[in-house]
Amino acid sequence: MRIPFICGNWKMYKTKEEAAAFAAAFRKLYEEADTDIRAAICAPFTQLDTLKEAFAGTSIGVGAQNVHFADEGAYTGEISAAMLQEIGVDYCIVGHSERRQYFGETDDTVNLKLKKLFDATDITPILCVGENLEQREAGLAEAVVGGQLVTDLAGISADKAVGLVIAYEPVWAIGTGKTAMPEQAEEMCAFIRGVLEGLYGEYVCDQIIIQYGGSVKPENAGEIMNMDEIDGALVGGASLDPEKFMEIISF
Ligand code: PGA
Repeated sequence: MRIPFICGNWKMYKTKEEAAAFAAAFRKLYEEADTDIRAAICAPFTQLDTLKEAFAGTSIGVGAQNVHFADEGAYTGEISAAMLQEIGVDYCIVGHSERRQYFGETDDTVNLKLKKLFDATDITPILCVGENLEQREAGLAEAVVGGQLVTDLAGISADKAVGLVIAYEPVWAIGTGKTAMPEQAEEMCAFIRGVLEGLYGEYVCDQIIIQYGGSVKPENAGEIMNMDEIDGALVGGASLDPEKFMEIISF
């Protein structure tokens, strides 16, 4: 049984004060709702300790949005896996399309980052994959996403992969207000599970959480979450507001 997992991705939003205010409000709503659905927030690095403190004693997870693949070194501006582990981070997004698009992230660096997280920490990686509009219109969505998965997961064993979260995020649906049709998202998540089965076998692929991401909001969360192969959501804009994010969790 895969427990649904809904995760916020704050991107480059919220000061410390705003993060603390969100956390106090969200913690109250989440506890009142007494839900079985797993929730987490991936915040900017400087807000991670604030959230860890604010969510202490609850099951609400805290995640980073990126990590470097080296143990340490002359990498100005970067953060290592050990540094995240030190403050008790639970999750780390790897390979978000904004990092692929603006910061030169490639499938090879994604692969190194996943390996580092698995080898050096007990942080759960949230691996993002997804095609852009041009690729979708050219009928290449499956080829692109399949290719990303094979390279991103190269050399990662089944006993590690079983702990993965994968977020299918069609680039054309992120921050655009355009959500993939639930059936379209379901089709791609089923395809992803098929690729995982090919790589790791049925048992492992049955355990891996697959989220959908791209303009998820309270109005469409229910129809997305009701799809068989979709186990959760990675929520950008709508995770900035505690009430909206809680409405999504209560789909
Ligand atoms: P969005 O972002 O919900 O604002 O479209 C999703 C994401 O980038 O993870």
